[in-house]
Amino acid sequence: ARPKVFVTRRVPARGIDLLKDKFVVSQWDREDRIPPEELLRGVKGVDALFCLLTDKIDKDVLDAAGPQLKTICTMSVGYEHIDISECKKRNIPVGFTPDVLTNATAELTMSLLLATSRRLKEAMTAVEDGSWGTWNPIWMLGHGLDGATVGIVGLGRIGLAVAKCLLPFGVSRIVYSGNSQSKNEQEVNAEFVSFDYLLEHSDFILGCCSLTANNMGLFNAEAFNKMKTSAIFVNTSRGGLVNQDDLYNALKSGKIAGAGLDVTNPEPLPTDSPLLTLSNCLVLPHIGSATEKARSAMSELTARNIIAVFDNKEMPSRLNI
Ligand code: GLV
Ligand code: GLV
Repeated sequence: ARPKVFVTRRVPARGIDLLKDKFVVSQWDREDRIPPEELLRGVKGVDALFCLLTDKIDKDVLDAAGPQLKTICTMSVGYEHIDISECKKRNIPVGFTPDVLTNATAELTMSLLLATSRRLKEAMTAVEDGSWGTWNPIWMLGHGLDGATVGIVGLGRIGLAVAKCLLPFGVSRIVYSGNSQSKNEQEVNAEFVSFDYLLEHSDFILGCCSLTANNMGLFNAEAFNKMKTSAIFVNTSRGGLVNQDDLYNALKSGKIAGAGLDVTNPEPLPTDSPLLTLSNCLVLPHIGSATEKARSAMSELTARNIIAVFDNKEMPSRLNI
């Protein structure tokens, strides 16, 4: 019999087309998030699971699937939604989708950086509400990237791609922090510094690291207090890195100048979130990898990760756990 795979959402066709050749595919074929009880029902008896970052894959899901489950592959680069230690215990290889979304996510990071540094949200509002009086030499002044120091928290695949994008804008210095020094630092002339040093010296601070138990709430009041009052904070990794109440207070009180967030905690961000009342805070709905090309490649890579397991081959992108 052909192996069974369960797909937890409607995804770009590329991956499904590949899977259909070899698997019996069942799917939550909708654009809304699968309810937990439907997930438990859907995984029952399947050999492979194709999931998303919005699915919580815990012990209950693994138990509901059953012992025949051979692999879990997420259509994302982040994997904090999966109970990795439980997968390891059960010898279930986990696939993910790095690299194929790197450029798209770096591009979105640059979009947020440019938009917040040049105050585009306020500027657009001024046009729309008529508060734009005249071309004014001392109005709507932002901070350009030319000559700036940019601090990247996490110089991994995405952080490095962002650093490459920054160079042509004439930044004078790129500093980064993280668990360890990156072998890629020379490529972009980046300097490894402490987190505190980065906070104190950067004009722009970019969250580009993955979320772990150790960096939950890393950007809290203490961190915002160390930043320059002209600093702009951009986060395109995970909302859990940020204490949002502290961020609100820092923006509201002028401790920092602005923020651009593609990720929040929770997602979606409730429409009554105080962050949305701030003209210096631009919030996007987690669209870092949302290009046709990247999402199609993510769908394909997730399928290829699954297929490799059943062909007894190396997964193209297996999580090292
Ligand atoms: C997006 O956030 C991803 O993890 O792929
Ligand atoms: C701006 O529009 C200028 O001409 O300087």
